Amino acid sequence: MKTRITEMFGIQHPIIQGGMHYVGFAELAAAVSNAGGLGIITGLTQGTPEKLANEIARCRDMTDKPFGVNLTFLPMVNQPDYPGLVRTIIEGGVKVVETAGNNPAQVLPFFKDAGVKVIHKCTSVRHSLKAQSIGCDAVSVDGFECGGHPGEDDIPNMILLPRAADELEIPFVASGGMADGRSLVASLAMGADGMNMGTRFIATKEAPVHENVKHAIVAASELDTRLVMRPLRNTERVMTNDAVERLLEKERALGADLKFEDIIEEVAGVYPRIMTEGDMDAGAWSCGMVAGLISDIPSCKDLIDRIMAEADQIIRSRLAGFV
Ligand SMILES: Cc1cc2nc3c(=O)[nH]c(=O)nc-3n(C[C@H](O)[C@H](O)[C@H](O)COP(=O)(O)O)c2cc1C
Repeated sequence: MKTRITEMFGIQHPIIQGGMHYVGFAELAAAVSNAGGLGIITGLTQGTPEKLANEIARCRDMTDKPFGVNLTFLPMVNQPDYPGLVRTIIEGGVKVVETAGNNPAQVLPFFKDAGVKVIHKCTSVRHSLKAQSIGCDAVSVDGFECGGHPGEDDIPNMILLPRAADELEIPFVASGGMADGRSLVASLAMGADGMNMGTRFIATKEAPVHENVKHAIVAASELDTRLVMRPLRNTERVMTNDAVERLLEKERALGADLKFEDIIEEVAGVYPRIMTEGDMDAGAWSCGMVAGLISDIPSCKDLIDRIMAEADQIIRSRLAGFV
């Protein structure tokens, strides 16, 4: 399938694996890229320029296909060495960067000069237009369904994607709630040039996370995610568990007085315990409503081949039959 996104990133299929903390290691990024999609290493999981350089080198050993790096800009107590990470990405020869969080205007000139394409993740039309105006090459439009940070507008993709299509000139991919060939065809119908998946790629053979995480996603239904940190205007969609219910109880009890320190135990530094050790009640971890559509743990290649075959079948048979 050829779209503006496959052309821009030099990939076979219009499917991107979004950056995921403690999931987006070289193993997963390489597997997605080898399967014809665009795999993405999560920059902040590595944390330092040296470690990121090593991860990029490991990925390059595993694939000769294009892959990207995610750079998430968040307000943090200990700010990462962003200039160093940007230099590492450029020196590592990476040609695609997925930015997320705050406006990436400060780093764009460096990437532009080095010929690196930037796709910025946005949860609203106004942020997407801003990304376009500052020179981003593409946008990943993340609807309210998404795992991770859906923003504060709560607009689901059925509305957000056609709205983005009406306003944007640069290409965009649909993100949040995407799992299969139906997702891809629907995304294309609503004006996207491809799709981005997070949660679906965690439940794959190559995702280098504990088996408990994959099984938790397979076992979950679409009813099993919760929104946390809304009172802090840092909303995150996570899988429910004991820690999350405890966190929500604190949010209810403290109301407008809630501070980050009140919930630090449930949210700070929990990813290694969950993703690596498989301690599923250690804290809050991002997961999308799309868990309800995930019932197996295929290889990335089987997953992507299946999505493309299903999309082909829907377009040629089901949709063509209607006209
Ligand atoms: C476990 C997990 C960790 C994530 N970490 C990040 C991150 O560090 N940076 C980022 O930009 N997005 C992150 N995301 C969001 C994904 O890149 C993607 O936008 C989102 O998962 C799409 O929604 P879906 O899960 O419904 O496919 C994360 C998502 C998950 C599920």
